Amino acid sequence: DIFGAERKNSKGLNMNIISESEPFFAALEKFKDTQWNVGPLVNGELLSGETKEVVSPFDTTKLVGKVAFANNQAIEHALAGADNAFSSWCNTPVEIRANALQKLADLLEENREELIALCTREAGKSIQDGIDEVREAVDFCRYYAVQAKKMMAKPELLPGPTGELNELFLQGRGIFVCISPWNFPLAIFLGQVAAALAAGNTVVAKPAEQTSIVGFRAVQLAHEAGIPKEVLQFLPGTGATVGAAITSDERIGGVCFTGSTGTAKLINRTLANREGAIIPLIAETGGQNAMVVDSTSQPEQVVHDVVDSSFTSAGQRCSALRVLFLQEDIADRVLEVMKGAMDELTIGDPSSVKTDVGPVIDATAQANLNAHIDHIKQVGTLLKQLELPAGTKNGHFVAPTAVEIDSIKVLEKEHFGPILHVIRYKAADLHKVIDEINSTGFGLTLGIHSRNEGHALELASKVKVGNVYINRNQIGAVVGVQPFGGQGLSGTGPKAGGPHYLTRFITEKTRTNNI
Ligand code: NAD
Ligand code: ALA
Repeated sequence: DIFGAERKNSKGLNMNIISESEPFFAALEKFKDTQWNVGPLVNGELLSGETKEVVSPFDTTKLVGKVAFANNQAIEHALAGADNAFSSWCNTPVEIRANALQKLADLLEENREELIALCTREAGKSIQDGIDEVREAVDFCRYYAVQAKKMMAKPELLPGPTGELNELFLQGRGIFVCISPWNFPLAIFLGQVAAALAAGNTVVAKPAEQTSIVGFRAVQLAHEAGIPKEVLQFLPGTGATVGAAITSDERIGGVCFTGSTGTAKLINRTLANREGAIIPLIAETGGQNAMVVDSTSQPEQVVHDVVDSSFTSAGQRCSALRVLFLQEDIADRVLEVMKGAMDELTIGDPSSVKTDVGPVIDATAQANLNAHIDHIKQVGTLLKQLELPAGTKNGHFVAPTAVEIDSIKVLEKEHFGPILHVIRYKAADLHKVIDEINSTGFGLTLGIHSRNEGHALELASKVKVGNVYINRNQIGAVVGVQPFGGQGLSGTGPKAGGPHYLTRFITEKTRTNNI
């Protein structure tokens, strides 16, 4: 048992065991036509507002539900409610806060099929991605519950002269604004919220505008689990309206943001320009993630991990492989096998268990990615572009594509979709590869395939990234096992699902008592 007695990561679902898979698919089926009507949850009350229809990214003729976006009044009431509730929640014993998060984890598991159906229908995620998403959300809740108890149950005793008692207390900071992306609409949304709550903060949570329904159900379950309604407020809406309003409010005590680097910089400027205290920004952002493959590696294993890292979730993972560096001696062989493996990918409806690659999130993402493919095909050499099957024309599908280019410098930014760029390098130029990867300024994940331990360890130590994976894929970090997060343009740290994550949600106070 690698996790020890105090906590276990959640269990997956083995599709090959009929007694597990049949009840799962039967339960999932119940949500195939459900329509959800959601909106701001402010002090527990469902408010109305400007309402948008939510359609499926894989078929825009299919309605998932409706969402009312938060207006100014809802925003004000949410902030005021969270502000009022702070003192009581901060002084609630950490065991009670932790128990509520453990209960939330149980409720997530009990409602697994609805949440997976939502991940599939609202976010276009595959069934396997949906299963992993719920598991990660459960793991975050349990992990931060345990961490908070470890760190906050008792003050730390510090030395002092006789008669003087010195203690260090860890406390919540105030209202934490949690802003999340659509690509992990449950796991990242709840990971941020669970950490902030465990540490004794109240929370104003804003989901990505594309995935408000999943966030809404998660907040309802959190309230059901015993998180007081004023302590956790939910404000769906766009970044430019709701996001900008809550990050510029002087009452807030911190911001936890996951999304693009550009938005993180914008929020940083908002925080600097607003009235009020100097507060922490935790930002987890994008990447220009590379994998370096040398001639000692095993081509079939390389191809498996390249295809998985590039095209799972239609490439819409911050961790996904974007630039594959192949040592020239092995390049032709790997590329040949890779093209064959790409042919095996099934593109289509994410609610079918056979689907490997679903849609991208919306029409804007689809247009931007297709424009990049058109451009990069001119700059480089097309290696492979899959045909989109007939059943995809009502959705936001982008054909998985691999293009050979000369230098990482032709990629000016992260392209968040199923597009792989390939660069050949000479064995003597490994140091240039390291410089080239570091020159992007991003630093999220790095994949390495090599049986030469010297090469692998040199790359692992010299490339400036948060997560290195040797001889495996580079996606799917597991809570408590691969704490996740980058450096440079990829984020501020601390790492989600790691032992230091809660520290940035906490303020420290010493008490000296001259008894
Ligand atoms: P995004 O930056 O467009 O949006 C993220 C969130 O920020 C959304 O909720 C959005 O409404 C909000 N937002 C936008 N403008 C805002 C503003 N002015 N003020 C406050 N909030 C604002 O990102 P996205 O397209 O939703 O997500 C994809 C990005 O997220 C990719 O770059 C990906 O690499 C990154 N990501 C990073 C991680 C990580 O852990 N490092 C994980 C997942 C996704
Ligand atoms: N934590 C996610 C992964 O590792 C982003 O793929």
